[in-house]
Amino acid sequence: KQAEENLLRSPICCIMGHVDAGKTKLLDFVRGTNVQEGEAGFITQQIGATYFPAENIRERTKELKADAKLKVPGLLVIDTPGHESFTNLRSRGSGLCDIAILVVDIMDGLKPQTIESLKLLKMRNTEFIIALNKVDRLYGWKTCRNAPIVKAMKQQSKDVQNEFNMKLRQIVTQFMEQGLNTELYYKNREMGETFNMVPTSAISGEGIPDLLLLLVQWTQKTMVEKLTFSNKVQCTVLEVKVIEGHGMTIDVVLVNGVIHEGDQIGPIVTTIRALLTPHPMKELRVKGTYLHHKEIKAAQGIKITAQGLEHAIAGTGLYVVGIDADLEDVKEVAMEDMKSVMSRIDKSGEGVYVQASTLGSLEAFLEYLKSSDVCIPVSGIGIGPVHKKDVMKVSVMLEKKKEYGTILAFDVKVTPEARELAAELGVKIFIDDVIYRLFDQFKAYICNLKE
Ligand code: GTP
Ligand code: MG
Ligand code: NA
Repeated sequence: KQAEENLLRSPICCIMGHVDAGKTKLLDFVRGTNVQEGEAGFITQQIGATYFPAENIRERTKELKADAKLKVPGLLVIDTPGHESFTNLRSRGSGLCDIAILVVDIMDGLKPQTIESLKLLKMRNTEFIIALNKVDRLYGWKTCRNAPIVKAMKQQSKDVQNEFNMKLRQIVTQFMEQGLNTELYYKNREMGETFNMVPTSAISGEGIPDLLLLLVQWTQKTMVEKLTFSNKVQCTVLEVKVIEGHGMTIDVVLVNGVIHEGDQIGPIVTTIRALLTPHPMKELRVKGTYLHHKEIKAAQGIKITAQGLEHAIAGTGLYVVGIDADLEDVKEVAMEDMKSVMSRIDKSGEGVYVQASTLGSLEAFLEYLKSSDVCIPVSGIGIGPVHKKDVMKVSVMLEKKKEYGTILAFDVKVTPEARELAAELGVKIFIDDVIYRLFDQFKAYICNLKE
């Protein structure tokens, strides 16, 4: 058994679905955390990762008596935003995972981003499990905390069961319209062809043991080859961000292989200063205390500190110098990604200045500004706090077009010096940590100017 455990890496599971379906809340329930209530506007705007050790999964699923069946060291779960602006982050998450959970609010059924997520998963041929979340909202639901779903369902009145069956039928039909056969997992006789559904509640935990067990069993059963541990480092940058006390850092997902403190990494050639992870069952994207490691084995979500990380690009691969040969390939891919971000910048040189906390959120914000109903040109971009030098750059725009002498600061701080200079020069700075509220502020300002 021990030998087997060393052979398999942890599967990576991505959580996807429409905004407010309960993705983060489901993870909060399993983690025993409260990430969701700390989110600006109660929406997820960054991609995150959490490691669930096998012991925890074993503990959470023991009522289902499946103890001996766990062969993977744990599970790495990637949370994604459901808000329509963040297609880039959904795509990034779905590109990394071995399996996904598609969360559907049982009261609402399929929505635009459920369907968008479905398309991303189909495109990459990724297996997924559907969570029919918020069962506790069925009128008259009797709470059975943490109970396996069949047991919880037996406790419900005929009325609740009828309402459940009605909602279930509607959702099965909606999936059929998308070309997909679905069935409750405990009734599914065609695993693989018919997609499994697990009713869940992120508030009282019914169905959570089933969801965890199904995830682990399904990956172990069907993906042994894909999950076989390899020494070749496979690593993707999730986010590039400034963390107080650490400077510019990158959040990465190590998909395979081992990395060490002191490793030389590329394509931005630098040396890993520190390898940090949050505690197990804690979210990487939430600032907290970090554990230091000398080396880390896949799969894991890691925060790396090093010099020169401001040049790293979210979504691109990271390689370890001296281990991987195809340096040129990786460099090329990195360049492509950089080009795609830079292509969002207006060629005319006229437009607002956008500053964001992470490259991922910057991409999302640029995408949002480009969309037809918003359509605002951008002349410059940056990551991290707004400094005096940014204000200086923007002030040039005031002479060309007054309204573009503006900095849209998304989820970043503005230094007091920058604020002072902006007031002096007449540069407008709008700050918000919710993407559409920031745009609304700017829109109101433009309307005012025009009047
Ligand atoms: P985004 O990340 O913004 O796309 O949303 P999300 O899918 O992560 O949903 P989130 O976890 O933010 O939950 C949205 C709202 O639904 C919150 O108010 C939650 O408390 C609530 N909620 C989530 N799951 C459940 C559930 O199972 N039952 C009930 N009653 N409420 C839930
Ligand atoms: Mg969320
Ligand atoms: Na939300």
